[in-house]
Amino acid sequence: MGWFISFEGLDGSGKTTQIAGLAQRLRAAGHDVLLTREPGGTAIGDQIRSILHDMRNAEMTALAEFLLYSASRAQLVRQVIRPHLERGGTVLCDRFADSSLAYQGYGRQLDLDWVREVTRFVTEGVVPHLTIYLDLPVEIGLARKQAAFAAQRGERNRLDTQPLEFYRRVRDGYLSMARAEPQRWLVIDATQSIDQVQQSIWERLQHLLLEMGEAAR
Ligand code: TMP
Repeated sequence: MGWFISFEGLDGSGKTTQIAGLAQRLRAAGHDVLLTREPGGTAIGDQIRSILHDMRNAEMTALAEFLLYSASRAQLVRQVIRPHLERGGTVLCDRFADSSLAYQGYGRQLDLDWVREVTRFVTEGVVPHLTIYLDLPVEIGLARKQAAFAAQRGERNRLDTQPLEFYRRVRDGYLSMARAEPQRWLVIDATQSIDQVQQSIWERLQHLLLEMGEAAR
């Protein structure tokens, strides 16, 4: 089995830039890297993504929202992630199941145990080896996102119109998941420069690759 690394964070945390940078470094180091994202990453997932992001779907219930993210995830795991890992490749995923725990569990306040249980079926037990969480105060994330919209970068989606409290619960949720599983989560201060963030990720990853290499011997 290859390596599975997920990236998490509030919008505006710089995930997309960091994931692209890491893909480049890993490829240069000889990894067969597959870069994907949630929701989406497959033709079916991309159709689900447009339902989820459509501003006209304001009446969508929290449960319907969670199940749609889960449907996209089930397709991505079976069609893309698992096969690549089984070939020994490295998968980098821009958001994975922890996003549903953070946004639909902590944010929308669906029952966390139930969300975890459904997610276990949906992911067929596939769990990232490492989850890189780019942590940012909510106000900074929202300000960055606003600046991106003003510069006509980035798409505005239905999740961009929630009250501040919602994003605070999401961030607190991420931080408590990271505290509960410190061996899987790498929390990085995303207020640092792009280069600093990149360097912290790379250092941690090299350690991890070394540890896994030792364990495999
Ligand atoms: P992004 O593609 O810009 O990261 O946007 C995806 C949005 O969807 C983001 O606001 C977070 C949200 N989301 C959830 O609420 N639950 C999920 O399970 C996933 C994958 C994303």
